[in-house]
Amino acid sequence: MAKFLQLAPMQAMTDIHFMNTYHKIFGGFTEMMAPYLMAASNSRMKVQNLQKYFSELNSEITLIPQLLSNDAQGFLHYANVLHDMGFQKVNWNLGCPFPYVTKKQRGSGLLPFPDRIEDILEQVMPHLGSSLSIKIRLGLHHPDEILPIIDILNKFDIEETIIHPRTAAQKYEGTANKGFFKEIYPKFNMPIIYNGDIINKAKVDEMEADFDGIKGYMIGRGAFINPFITNQINNISHSDEEKIKLFSDFYYELHNYYKAKTITDHGFLGRMKDLWFYFAQSFEKGDSYLFALKTINEIPIFETAVSNILASGKLKRTSIVSKE
Ligand SMILES: Cc1cc2nc3c(=O)[nH]c(=O)nc-3n(C[C@H](O)[C@H](O)[C@H](O)COP(=O)(O)O)c2cc1C
Repeated sequence: MAKFLQLAPMQAMTDIHFMNTYHKIFGGFTEMMAPYLMAASNSRMKVQNLQKYFSELNSEITLIPQLLSNDAQGFLHYANVLHDMGFQKVNWNLGCPFPYVTKKQRGSGLLPFPDRIEDILEQVMPHLGSSLSIKIRLGLHHPDEILPIIDILNKFDIEETIIHPRTAAQKYEGTANKGFFKEIYPKFNMPIIYNGDIINKAKVDEMEADFDGIKGYMIGRGAFINPFITNQINNISHSDEEKIKLFSDFYYELHNYYKAKTITDHGFLGRMKDLWFYFAQSFEKGDSYLFALKTINEIPIFETAVSNILASGKLKRTSIVSKE
């Protein structure tokens, strides 16, 4: 049976076009989570803009919108707008680690304040049309911060919790704390999804043995570093020739879309360089490709360099069994 896999939200990376393209070329994600929308009572986010944004989504994709909020009324307002638009599940971001978010007690900035989390849930849960999922880190500063929050989450009817076992202080560095995850996930009384550092099937195989009974896995950077990952996890393999063809199709769908949509050359190249930060890691010699691409400031030169990479570059053999 196919594994339950959720695409992680990545602000400015996993936009609707990325989701549509990944779904078209590779498929394999059971659900995709959209990057956070700020849900405050005084937010100027317009319903028409949300409708327009989400209307471009391929209807075969099950998308979960995510809200960043420390404000029960703002959360409820936008969650119910999204529910009216047809979304059956909404996610609350309790993980964003960036100081401009955390210092306002949003994202993982709420983790040292379990009473506030409880208060928000008490106000939100009775009036929420959709089901609620939670995406959480271990803490703002210390992993132990999550412990009292587990008891709070267990009091509510929460659909599932996605745990990224790092503190906010770690940002995305170091390794995810799988040992701590293993200790705490059985304490939750709702389905649990593991998130963090999954870049190939071998990582999932290790976890399958270790984390008995979890619902599934959320994958973010791995979908860029190794876009074959969903297929590998589901035991669908490709020859080297098929892989480079799929990768090129995937790449050019993104490239051509962003080229048409981005107003300035600088903006377009910036966007593509952000993508290549991850894509380069798919290739042997990827570091040298990235180094070269980063120095290019003209689109035709950039495009020639990319086509050379795709013509002669070797994709890494992220084999379905090897431990990388
Ligand atoms: C560029 C970037 C943007 C991100 N944006 C969001 C976001 O909007 N909401 C969220 O919950 N997590 C966000 N994350 C965190 C990811 O969803 C995920 O939890 C994290 O990258 C760890 O998973 P991974 O190792 O599979 O990438 C972001 C991460 C990155 C690298």
